[in-house]
Amino acid sequence: MLQVAGLTCAIGGAVIVSDVSFDVAPGEFVAVIGPNGAGKTSLFNLLSGLLPVTSGSVTLAGTDITRAGPADRARRGLGRTFQASSVFAGLTVQENVRLAAQARLGGSMRAWQLVRPSDRAYEVAGRALDRVGLGSRAHLPAGSLSHGDKRKLELAILLATDPALVLLDEPMAGVSTEEVAGLTEVIAGVHREEGKTVLMVEHHMDVLLGLADRVAVMHHGALLALDTPARVTGDPAVQEAYLGDAL
Ligand SMILES: Nc1ncnc2c1ncn2[C@@H]1O[C@H](COP(=O)(O)OP(=O)(O)OP(=O)(O)O)[C@@H](O)[C@H]1O
Ligand SMILES: [Mg+2]
Repeated sequence: MLQVAGLTCAIGGAVIVSDVSFDVAPGEFVAVIGPNGAGKTSLFNLLSGLLPVTSGSVTLAGTDITRAGPADRARRGLGRTFQASSVFAGLTVQENVRLAAQARLGGSMRAWQLVRPSDRAYEVAGRALDRVGLGSRAHLPAGSLSHGDKRKLELAILLATDPALVLLDEPMAGVSTEEVAGLTEVIAGVHREEGKTVLMVEHHMDVLLGLADRVAVMHHGALLALDTPARVTGDPAVQEAYLGDAL
């Protein structure tokens, strides 16, 4: 599904992602961990086309997308969420998802489509909202949702664009402890039942243990380890990178 080879990004003399290489198989769930500033979000920005690649390559389902723009990558099946929550607070939950579905189905946003949304876009939005468990809240303003439900809404928005590979950057950020289990269930459903390939940045190892097939550890912009969760947590080099912080 994804091949990353020698991926490097240098900005103003600082190397923020350094010679990162790994492959992700279709249907695989790979977690990305690492201390603050390790380059996890930068790696996602390189994969989604928001940061320019200095050297190396990114191949998505056999197509070299190293120089492709973000919209082109999205059309080819790469979707992502952001570390900071990003929904239209003033629109309803349903409209947030419907707009994403419309953009995907219509190819472009035309004024008449906004005035007269297609039934198909509502259908796609409805299915995505049911998948994340927000079907009964479709008509509420998105701004009224809890942090955990906003994160579920972001997943529904992502699902409405029908990506094959999803990049989730700290989906648990800002979510209360009581909501973590529910959100974890939703992400597991997106992976297993929707058959999505997932790359997810997450600090909480307990969340990852039940989800991830493999864990990639970033440190100072480089890939320090990539292995099963059990082997990664037992790796002395990984423990050293965290300087005794509990994994
Ligand atoms: N556009 C940019 N220009 C210059 N430096 C950048 C840019 N984006 C990121 N960096 C730097 O790259 C390094 C890695 O940042 P990044 O946000 O990727 O880390 P992270 O692993 O996601 O950290 P966190 O766990 O805090 O989210 C940091 O030192 C950051 O300041
Ligand atoms: Mg980050």
